[in-house]
Amino acid sequence: MQLTEFDSFNKFLSGNLVFLGVSIALVCYLLFEQLRYFWWKRSSKLPGPSFTLPFLGSIIEMVKNPYEFWEKQRLLDPQGVSANFLVGRITLFVTDSALVRAILNNNSAKTFLLALHPSARLILGKNNIAFMHGPEHKELRKSFLALFTRKALGVYLTLQETTIKSHLQRWIELCKEKSPLEMSFFCRDLNLETSQYVFAGPYIGERRDEFCSWYITVTKAFISAPVFFPGTNLWKAYFARKKIVALLENAVIQSKRYMADGGSPRCLLDFWTQRVLEEVEEAAQQGRSVSYANNRKMAETMMDFLFASQDASTASLTWTLALMADHPDILKRVQEEQKRLRPNNEPLSFELVENMTFTRQVVKEILRYRPPAVMVPQNAMGDVPLTDNVTVPKGSFVMPSIWSCCMQGFPEAYKFDPDRMSPERQEDIKYRQNFLTFGIGPHVCVGREYAINNLIAFLALVSTECQFERYRTKKSDDIIYLPTIYPADCLMKFVKVSACQ
Ligand code: HEM
Repeated sequence: MQLTEFDSFNKFLSGNLVFLGVSIALVCYLLFEQLRYFWWKRSSKLPGPSFTLPFLGSIIEMVKNPYEFWEKQRLLDPQGVSANFLVGRITLFVTDSALVRAILNNNSAKTFLLALHPSARLILGKNNIAFMHGPEHKELRKSFLALFTRKALGVYLTLQETTIKSHLQRWIELCKEKSPLEMSFFCRDLNLETSQYVFAGPYIGERRDEFCSWYITVTKAFISAPVFFPGTNLWKAYFARKKIVALLENAVIQSKRYMADGGSPRCLLDFWTQRVLEEVEEAAQQGRSVSYANNRKMAETMMDFLFASQDASTASLTWTLALMADHPDILKRVQEEQKRLRPNNEPLSFELVENMTFTRQVVKEILRYRPPAVMVPQNAMGDVPLTDNVTVPKGSFVMPSIWSCCMQGFPEAYKFDPDRMSPERQEDIKYRQNFLTFGIGPHVCVGREYAINNLIAFLALVSTECQFERYRTKKSDDIIYLPTIYPADCLMKFVKVSACQ
């Protein structure tokens, strides 16, 4: 009897000792974390909170209102570096344009690699181009040059025009029954269909709706908890991605067959297939192989394109509508240019778009004034010296602020002024070091020419095919992070041009 009591006392004691041990270790770790942040911040002489919540840091404040959070952080040092602490990690917010360029140019397994989302590799696949670096990445990007030639961009414009016109028509019809429409959703649908049609149009065909619903499932995972368990958004996204890649693999097989039979490229995939087939032949003659030429790898890369082309373009389409509705004087000048260049609403061509000087100025200014991808977050892979005082500690987050750069140098930077991009003022060239909307360095956006053309095509068509009006609310001037930036609302009504003249 006495022995049993002794045993249970022992058990109780050892159980509690384990608990006590774990608790002490946890407290020590949290203390160490805080002290490490404190000493690093002090030695680096950086502005930022001195102490933050253990482990969580400022994450709650950040999730509650990301725009306010990052704006407050930016104001700590509008052209420099400031510190914070997020989910157990030292975080540097970098606003100085020269430092942002230095970070984005310094891409390697020992310095900085993109940090998208805790589950990004599960959602997008570990081979996603954004995570690549070194010679393999360089070789793949070289192959993409064939996708954005004048000829290719001209073929895409015809496809873009067809899609944009059909969506404008739909918006006009919908507004006859119900208005206003929240345009961020409608721009997302437009952009998704444009990308599918331009990238792999003839090969997705009947399965377009399925494709869209899988795509939306995958994107939802980016704003969900990183929990991989049957039924969670991450779980669903993982399997939806597999279905998308399988469908695209089939598209690659068909495109290879079509191009090998001497077909003329009809979409971005065809242009790439044409180039890859040439590369495979050249490599075979030199006894090499092409790492990305197999059907699965090509399908995965097409998927990377679809994702990379989505969010930022959707945000820019929404900003185009919002800013044009808010600046009728600018819209009028766009319409005048369109009337002059396309008096009978002639179909778009590469040459026509090239001559749309003012419309292009407006698009460039939209991209500078509201750069949709406001940050390109990076993981520090080692201790990396940044300035004389600051060494970025291994394991920290680095947030190069594209938006801050776009506001540096430009006179009256906070004013929406498309004339700054005119051939006379050329601020896009004068301050190109700060105009970093598409990033810089080894990962600079491969689709920038296409993205600009897409926005010009959209603005050219929306300004000539319909009249639109924005319904303002108290929130209309607020900005939200999703995680690209959007106007908090963009409620609009569309009417066909001929119906209101
Ligand atoms: C307004 C629209 C767009 C904006 C603002 C934008 C911006 C960006 C930015 C900031 C990056 C990261 C650059 C860096 O890390 O330095 C990027 C990468 C990328 N973008 Fe875009 N993008 C847009 C549209 C597109 C489109 C339409 C495509 C495809 C046709 C595309 C394809 C890509 C790809 C593939 C990458 C990854 C490149 C790599 O990692 O090597 N983007 N983009």
